[in-house]
Amino acid sequence: MRIGVVGATGAVGREMIEELAESSLTSDVKVELFASPRSEGETIAYRGETLKVNAYSLEKVKGCDYILMSAGGTFSKAHSPAISSQDSVVIDNSSAFRMDPKIPLIIPEVNGDVLQGFTQGIIANPNCSTIQMLVAINPLKLKFGLKMIVVATYQSVSGSGQKGIKELSDQLQDYLKFEKPNHVLYPQPIASNVLSAIGPFEDGQNCEEELKMVNETHKILGLPGLPVLATSARVPVFACHSEAINVQLGREADLEEVKQAFKQAPGLIYNETTSQSELPSPFHCTGKKEVFVARLRTLFGEPRSEWFQFWNVADNLKKGAATNAVQILEHLLKNKSS
Ligand SMILES: NC(=O)c1ccc[n+]([C@@H]2O[C@H](COP(=O)([O-])OP(=O)(O)OC[C@H]3O[C@@H](n4cnc5c(N)ncnc54)[C@H](OP(=O)(O)O)[C@@H]3O)[C@@H](O)[C@H]2O)c1
Repeated sequence: MRIGVVGATGAVGREMIEELAESSLTSDVKVELFASPRSEGETIAYRGETLKVNAYSLEKVKGCDYILMSAGGTFSKAHSPAISSQDSVVIDNSSAFRMDPKIPLIIPEVNGDVLQGFTQGIIANPNCSTIQMLVAINPLKLKFGLKMIVVATYQSVSGSGQKGIKELSDQLQDYLKFEKPNHVLYPQPIASNVLSAIGPFEDGQNCEEELKMVNETHKILGLPGLPVLATSARVPVFACHSEAINVQLGREADLEEVKQAFKQAPGLIYNETTSQSELPSPFHCTGKKEVFVARLRTLFGEPRSEWFQFWNVADNLKKGAATNAVQILEHLLKNKSS
């Protein structure tokens, strides 16, 4: 079997290579790396080997059984259909095909069953902030039903790829030298700042990231009319997105019932701590594959309520991107062998 990683030198691509190395793939599976001509000849370690990065071409990826695509939306739109018509399954990290009704949009723990019988074409990986929100909310939806989601995100700069990481690093250096920070990527400096919108305003009111959370949630949960009120903010953190989530369930529940739903949920670590030094944070969760939930509360401390509040943290490059993509691949391989 041949697996190609396109965008192998990017923030997500590098994590995908690490995830593949840690996955259940057997040693006879050949992993091949592709990026732009700028990176041709660069090397990246994989399971003790040194793999060379190739400049992408359709001809070079021909014969790959699976392509993990992570080279941006414009690139994916232009190339993924042709790659998949060469009989490769493309697992795409960009937003290019997420809302296409013919393309599955998958979080394996939530709607992996949609992939039953899937053998050819493109599969979309959802937006990072949607993935971590739905890993936590889906178990509540299954047990109690769901009437509304109100969410505010605190998103790290690695969500913008290598350019975001560089922008914050450079601006922190500027601050240390008492110089005015130079900003290239974001509309304001990100160091020592919080940006209250991510991406352009698309409907005159909501920004691109907020609409992704709304639309992708509707598609993945199969609840097209669900009210999802999202506010997306960029914060000066290198890795991990945090989210303050409020949900209105389909019925009243008590704290214990909701805790149990979290404790039994796949891919989620529920943390009951009241110690502030142990609360999940980007500091604790960077590099981890799971979604971390804490600070569960009922409405005004009432014993039973339809409304619950909690805090949610996940590494956007791991479960928000690379881990989820490789889990989709493993899900397909498991379906194939069963
Ligand atoms: N960062 C996140 O948290 C996150 C989460 C979910 C989804 N995503 C999505 O994943 C995708 C990649 O994001 P990223 O954060 O990894 O971006 P990134 O760090 O900017 O990396 C982009 C990658 O694409 C490659 N590339 C660019 N133009 C190319 C071309 N013409 N031909 C071949 N390769 C090309 C780059 O290669 P060179 O190094 O050679 O330029 C690099 O490997 C985006 O669609 C993004 O929206 C990102």
